Amino acid sequence: MKMAETDFKMDLAQLQSNVTLLFSLMKIVETDFKKNNAQLQSNVTGLSEKTNRSLSELRNHISQLKKKLLWKCSEHWRRFQQKCYYFSSDSKSWTEAQRSCASMDANLLVINKPEEQGFVKKWLQHKDYWIGLTDSIAEGDWRWMDGTDYNSSVKFWKKGEPNDASNEDCAEIYGDGGWNDQSCDASLHWICEKPAQFVSP
Ligand code: BGC
Ligand code: CA
Repeated sequence: MKMAETDFKMDLAQLQSNVTLLFSLMKIVETDFKKNNAQLQSNVTGLSEKTNRSLSELRNHISQLKKKLLWKCSEHWRRFQQKCYYFSSDSKSWTEAQRSCASMDANLLVINKPEEQGFVKKWLQHKDYWIGLTDSIAEGDWRWMDGTDYNSSVKFWKKGEPNDASNEDCAEIYGDGGWNDQSCDASLHWICEKPAQFVSP
């Protein structure tokens, strides 16, 4: 009996020392893991910063190269930067005008920047034209044909427009460059837009 009790105590002491050892090993592993994880995290951050930097350099480079190319438009189309524009001589409803652009691999005009508005304005010759802007899906929710965000992009509405005066869900550009919402069924000239073709210099 005495012998067994001694053995038990010895086993218990051994067990306690093993558990203590195990805990200290776990602590070491945990510390090591945390250190590696922090290092890994900072490597990943550094790498993604580098990737973003090279991506923006690459984009810059591509846009510089693009400017060196020679851009061309078909007959009856006018070029501005890397786009071609068609000013119609006949008149159609907004939907028919868009259909006509689509048949020429183009879309109704989307105005993205003041320079583009300026270019277009030069060629209006006092006529009114449809542009690729409509709120026919939901009143007041203006959408550009190509998905360009309306809220964050430039606008050239005439004073007091858009006023939805008589169910007016399509946008026109007046001969003076100001925009007006107009009934989509009205018959107007229209402007199509598509990417220019390049020929290497
Ligand atoms: C109004 C415009 C309206 C247009 C309809 C103009 O007199 O100012 O808001 O869209 O008439 O043709
Ligand atoms: Ca109007």
